[in-house]
Formats: sequence, C-alpha cells, structure tokens
Amino acid sequence: MCVYDSTYHKTPKGSCLEAVKIAIDAGYRHIDGAFVYFNEHEVGQAIREKIAEGKIKREDIFYCGKLWNTCHPPELVRPTLEKTLKILQLDYVDLYIIELPMAFKPGDALYPKDENGKFIYHETDLCATWEALEACKDAGLAKSIGVSNFNRRQLEMIMNKPGLKHKPVSNQVECHPYFTQPKLLEFCRQHDIVIVGYSPLGTSRDESWVNVSSPPLLKDPVLNAIGKKYNKTAAQIALRFNVQRGVVVIPKSFNPQRIRENFQIFDFSLTEKEMKEIEALNKNVRYVELLMWRDHPEYPFNDEY
Ligand code: A2P
Repeated sequence: MCVYDSTYHKTPKGSCLEAVKIAIDAGYRHIDGAFVYFNEHEVGQAIREKIAEGKIKREDIFYCGKLWNTCHPPELVRPTLEKTLKILQLDYVDLYIIELPMAFKPGDALYPKDENGKFIYHETDLCATWEALEACKDAGLAKSIGVSNFNRRQLEMIMNKPGLKHKPVSNQVECHPYFTQPKLLEFCRQHDIVIVGYSPLGTSRDESWVNVSSPPLLKDPVLNAIGKKYNKTAAQIALRFNVQRGVVVIPKSFNPQRIRENFQIFDFSLTEKEMKEIEALNKNVRYVELLMWRDHPEYPFNDEY
C-alpha cells in the first residue's frame, strides 16, 4: 500500500497509523513511504504495534523509504536515511530509493524557491548519489536500493557507471491501464529491474498535481465490463492487470473497505484476451507530469521512455 496523500498535502494526524494497521490486518506487507510524506512516525508505530500484537514479525514487512531531492549530495544520503530510520524506529529499510532524478538545493526547505517563486535546483550527479546509496546497503541500513521516476537514459547512466557495486533493483514509476509503460517495462525486464507502479488506480485526481485532462481510469467501460464478469470492481481489474504482467502495485487508500478490496485480487486471473484488451487502453498520457519541474536539467519525462 502507498501511504501518502498527495505531493504537497500531509495526511491528517493518525489516519496513516490506522490505515497501515488495517492494511497489515488485511494482508498487505509492502508499505511504500517517504520522509516527504511526513507520516513515517505513524508507519513505524503501526508496524511496532502489529509486531507487539504478534500479528507480524519485522521480517514480514517490506518498507520502502525514499531519498528526497534536497538530499542528493552524497554526504547527505546516509544521515538522511538514518533520520528516516530514527523516525520509523526501525534498524533498516527493505528498500531505499532515489525518489526523483532531480536534485534541489539542500537545506531545511523541501521545496526551495527564490524570491520570485522559482524552484531552486542543485547540480545533479546521479552516479555520486547512487554510490552513497550503495554504501547504505553495504552498511546494512537498506536491504536493497533502487530508483524512482528514472527514464531509460538515467537508468543506463547508473548501470554503466564504472565500478558499479549494486544495480537498482527497482524503478518506481507511474503505471496503470491508461499508462502501461510498454517500452520501459520491456527495458527493465531485460535488465532485471522490477517496475513498481505508482498511481495504479489513476490517482485521486487532485487538480493541484494531477493532469485531469486524462479521463478517470476507474470509469473505464472495459475495466468495468471485465470486472462484472469476475464480480470484481474496475479498481481490482486495474490492479490484477499489472500484477499479472509482473508489475508491483502500490494502491493508496485511507478507506478501510477499499483497503481490503484492493487486496482481493489473488483469487482470479484475467485471460490472455482480457490482458490484451486492457493493454489496448493505453493512452500514453501521464496523470503525474510534474510540469512545475520541467525546466530541471534532469526532468525525466521529456524522453520517449
Ligand atoms: P480513498 O482513500 O478514499 O479510498 P492511486 O493509488 O492510483 O493513487 O489512487 C488513489 C485514489 O483512489 C484515492 O483517491 C483513493 O481514495 C481511491 N481509491 C483507492 N482504492 C479504491 C477503490 N478500490 N475504488 C475506488 N477508488 C479507490
């Protein structure tokens, strides 16, 4: 499950604690978090409470944390991860990823802006940042390391880095039936990089950060018709589609019923014909374009994939 509310909005106090506990009870074990979601303390508390209850052990949980844009300089990486571990009250994260390939000016402001309201970027050296992540893995602070929102060129830059010690195990990117990522998925398959699909339900359609000109995914007639056949919802069909093609999904919900619903996708499978029909829904249009950062030299979404 994904535990953020949207790029700029904090989750209401306590809601993340409750949602994560409900999710763990429902069977979820993969929790997608980040320092910048401001709720890692609640995620950590939920995990500890469930361990204390005897429901899970630490090793059952797969927690993904993220390195924010203002913390790319190599000397900041380990202290930043240590801060996350302290907030979570955990000894390690299962996966630590570079949240975006775009460095911002380091400092207290997470979204640094100048007096004209323009974002202040920072020199981005993804290979140097990656080496610092490798050191975190070697130190046992992160079991695995990966990236997010990287395009093919940026992935290749890491993989072709002289002296590479650990390659990215995963790339977290937008992925759902309206944005199926066929080329990036194929490239990642060839290189044994798992695609983790964010916004697998088509986002919350919050106009402040979502491109709402692309239609709502869950209203799609094909997804709904296939859902009827299996007595499932369009959301469950969208999630099953990705899981069945080897894409990890991190649906987000703070509603107990929908949290449970989104986990009920392992008791049926889609036929090859249905998989093809859903693949054909691809519009190649992102809901999450991050256009406010399109002038950043490492803005990832101008490339074909
Ligand atoms: P809510 O928290 O009220 O359930 P994404 O995972 O693509 O970012 O989508 C998240 C959005 O989808 C949230 O607004 C969430 O709202 C909603 N959502 C989550 N699960 C379902 C579902 N099963 N059916 C309909 N909407 C859902």
